[in-house]
Amino acid sequence: MAKETLSITDNRTGKQYEIPIEEGGVIRAAALRDIKTSADDFGLMSYDPAFTNTASCRSRITFIDGDKGILRYRGYPIEELAEKSNYLEVAYLIVKGELPDRKHYAAWESNIKTHTMIHENVKKFMEGFRYDAHPMGMLVSTIGALSTFYPEAAQIHDLESRRLQTRRLIGKVPTLAAFAYRHTRGLPYVYPDNSLSYTGNFLSMLFRMTEREYKPNPTLERALDVLFILHADHEQNCSANAMRSVGSSQVDPYSAVAAATAALYGPLHGGANEAVIRMLVEIGSPKNVPEFIKGVKEGKRRLMGFGHRVYKNYDPRAKIVKKIAYEVFEVTGRNPLIDISLELEKIALEDDYFVSRKLYPNVDFYTGVTYQAMGFPMQMFPVLFAIPRTSGWMAQWAEMVRDPEQKIARPRQVYIGEQTRHWTPIEHRPEPTMREDAVSDQI
Ligand code: SDX
Repeated sequence: MAKETLSITDNRTGKQYEIPIEEGGVIRAAALRDIKTSADDFGLMSYDPAFTNTASCRSRITFIDGDKGILRYRGYPIEELAEKSNYLEVAYLIVKGELPDRKHYAAWESNIKTHTMIHENVKKFMEGFRYDAHPMGMLVSTIGALSTFYPEAAQIHDLESRRLQTRRLIGKVPTLAAFAYRHTRGLPYVYPDNSLSYTGNFLSMLFRMTEREYKPNPTLERALDVLFILHADHEQNCSANAMRSVGSSQVDPYSAVAAATAALYGPLHGGANEAVIRMLVEIGSPKNVPEFIKGVKEGKRRLMGFGHRVYKNYDPRAKIVKKIAYEVFEVTGRNPLIDISLELEKIALEDDYFVSRKLYPNVDFYTGVTYQAMGFPMQMFPVLFAIPRTSGWMAQWAEMVRDPEQKIARPRQVYIGEQTRHWTPIEHRPEPTMREDAVSDQI
C-alpha cells in the first residue's frame, strides 16, 4: 500500500526525512524547518512569491477546478445558481453554508433590508470628495469609515456580532455605492426603497429621478442580479486574501472589507472590467484587432479580461456573462463594442500565444460591455464587483476567525540586502552610489 508521505534526502548532510502528504495533496511548509545542516540552522523555508503554489487556508466556501472550468459555491454549480437562484439567496448560501428554506430566506431578506440605511454623517463624509472622485476610492473610504459607527464590531469572536456586521455590510454597501455614484453626478441621494428587491433597490438608488416610485426594468434587474451571483465569491483571490490577512490582525470587519475593496480596485483584479472597456475604446474597431493582438504578443500590452491565475480554461462565469449581454441588448440595444470583444476572443482563441499560455476570457471580459449598455459609467464597474463580493469576503473572514489553525498572517522573507554596516558622519560619506531600485537621483 503506497504511503502518503514524501521522502526527502538532504544531499548537504545525507540525512533523510519523511513528510506526511495530507488530504488534498498538500505538505505543511513548516515541516521543511526540520531539514537543517546543524542544530542552530534555521532550517528550510519555501519561497513562493504571489503564493502561486501555496494554500493559505482550508476552506469550505468555493471550489474551482481551473483546468475543467468548474466553479461551485458550497458545492452548487455556478450555472445552476445563475439560472435558478437570486443574489440574496446565494449570499445566504455562501455565508451560512446551506440554501435557506422559505422561513429562513424571508428572515434573511428582512434582516438585510433592515440595514440598507446609512448614518446621516456618512453623507457629510462623502461630500468631502471631489465631484470627479473615483467611486471605488469613495467606497474604500466610506466602508472603512463605517468601523467608527459600529465600534462593537471589534468583538470579532462574538458570533452574534459577526452575524450583525455581515448583515449590515451586505445591506449597506449598495447604498454607499449608489451614494458615491449620485455624488459624482451631482444628484441628490435616493434613499433605499425596501419594497423593491435587493438589486431593484440598488437600481432605484442609482437611477431614480423625479418619479415617485422607481420601477426597474425586470430584464435589467434580473441581469444585474445574476451578475451579482457570478461575482459573489471566488475562493482565495487577491481581495479575499487581503480580507483574511488584514482580518487576521483581529481588526473589525469594516476595516478588513475596506482593505479587500482596495485590493479589488486594482486593474489586474476587479478593476479589469473598467480596463477592458478602455482597451475596447482604444482599439476602436474590429479591423484594428490584429494590430492590437500583435502588440500584446510583443509584450507591449495585456489583453485585459483575458487570463486567470486559476482558470486555465474558459472562465465559466464569462460564458454566462456573454449570454446575459445579449439579453440586456434586447432591452438597451446592442453595444457595438461587443463586436471588438468577439473579434478579440476569436483571434486569441486561435493564436498559439494565448493557447500555449492557456489564456481565456475571464469574468471581466464581457461584463464591461454589458454594464455600459445598462447605463453604468466605466468607473462604476469595479463597484458593481465589490457589492456582491461583500458576502464572499464576509464568509471568508468568518471562516478565518473560526479556524483554530489560523493566526496573524506574517510571511517570512529571503533577505538579499546589505550585511551589517556602521553609521559614519555625513562629512565622511562618499556620494551615494545608484542603488538598483533607484529610478533616478531625484530625492
Ligand atoms: C479577476 O483570482 C481571482 O479569482 C480573480 C477573479 C475573482 O473573481 O476574484 O477571478 C477576478 O481578477 C479576474 C482577472 C481580471 N484581470 C485581468 O483580466 C487582467 C489581465 N489578466 C492578467 O493580468 C493575468 O492573466 C492575471 C493577473 C489575471 C493572472 O496573472 P498570473 O496568473 O500572474 O499570470 P502571469 O502574469 O504570470 O502570466 C503568465 C503568462 C505571462 O507570459 P510569459 O511571461 O510567460 O511570457 O501569460 C501572460 C503573461 O505575460 N499573460 C498575458 C495575460 N495574462 C497573462 N498576456 C497577455 N494578456 C493577458 N491578459
